[in-house]
Amino acid sequence: MAIRMIRENGDEILRKKAREVEVVDDKIRQILEDMVETMHKFNGVGLAGPQIGILKRLVVIDLYDDNGPIKLVNPKIVEQKGEQEVEEGCLSFPNQYAKLIRPAQVTMEALNENGEKITIEAEGLLAQAISHELDHLEGILFVDKMIPGTMEYTEPEKE
Ligand code: NI
Repeated sequence: MAIRMIRENGDEILRKKAREVEVVDDKIRQILEDMVETMHKFNGVGLAGPQIGILKRLVVIDLYDDNGPIKLVNPKIVEQKGEQEVEEGCLSFPNQYAKLIRPAQVTMEALNENGEKITIEAEGLLAQAISHELDHLEGILFVDKMIPGTMEYTEPEKE
């Protein structure tokens, strides 16, 4: 288990399209576990493979609720409905936040860490997080979709 280094804005790997995972094996499970640890370490609600330099279609999400961390392999949005205006940030853009439009509801299919097919129907914050993280797999970043003029910078918290 390990905390991985997070790639930040300007790193070209964030702009590359991630590849499908062919076999969900122990190596993939280890990466997913490291991704969860890394996300928790930096208080994120989601993390995608390219953000730790791994161009595979892997995503973890944790809204810190009863669902716990969700580990996704080859996730795909199969249906989306509506719109919500949201404010969001990204672990690859420390202390930066912007407003944008995300789908209000999404239906997503993926494999879990055991290679079993799962379907998640999400709305609100979970729909937002799924949309954000799946964009990372296409090399799309939240700033590409931001409503112009809404970027805000916050001072890092002093420890
Ligand atoms: Ni992000």
